[in-house]
Amino acid sequence: MNVHGQKNKALKETLRDIEREIKKCRKCELWRTKTNYVPGEGKESARVVFIGEAPGREEDKQGRPFVGSAGKLLDELLEGIGLSREDVFIGNVLKCRPPKNRDPKPEEIDACSPYLIRQLDIIKPDVIVCLGRHSASFIFDFFNLPFRGISRERGNIKKVKAWNKDVYVIPVYHPAAALYRPPLKDTLIEDFRKIGSLLETKKNNPTLVDFGFE
Ligand code: URA
Repeated sequence: MNVHGQKNKALKETLRDIEREIKKCRKCELWRTKTNYVPGEGKESARVVFIGEAPGREEDKQGRPFVGSAGKLLDELLEGIGLSREDVFIGNVLKCRPPKNRDPKPEEIDACSPYLIRQLDIIKPDVIVCLGRHSASFIFDFFNLPFRGISRERGNIKKVKAWNKDVYVIPVYHPAAALYRPPLKDTLIEDFRKIGSLLETKKNNPTLVDFGFE
């Protein structure tokens, strides 16, 4: 309580606080070319967080993550395991679109990724799903896991310690990759099933003794 008898909320950062900060960000040059910042969206209490690379054209236009064609596939994959956007948090390593959808530059990742880490620190998810190689390589690096490339790591669940609990990291192909190479869609469906089982298993059996983790 403060002197006015109000609860002291100042110490606990919220997703809204970070969003407000992102919307004023000039930590790298991408703010100059973007249309809208895309901070990410979803529940503060989400058990699972999906992390993409950076906003594309449609996301830049709308200021929302995964609302273009890759997003439609993501919605479908979520639905396939009984989840909807309302159940999860969806964000990106970069909050602004790189021009012409080029790859993120290391200095952009360095400048922007602290926002993602702060978002994760608030949500404290049980499961982190890395959508594509840029996201996976960043998250693996963050948790000091060796990254051997997306085609070798996809579908392999890693257990890390964070927020005083076991957290599961699973990299999958980026949904956009399956739009260019349709056979990858089956692999994505298979990997999303693992995410579904992981969440179920975590609910029923928090020790996850019967899962083969690396
Ligand atoms: N691709 C991404 O990595 N993120 C988005 O938000 C949309 C497409």
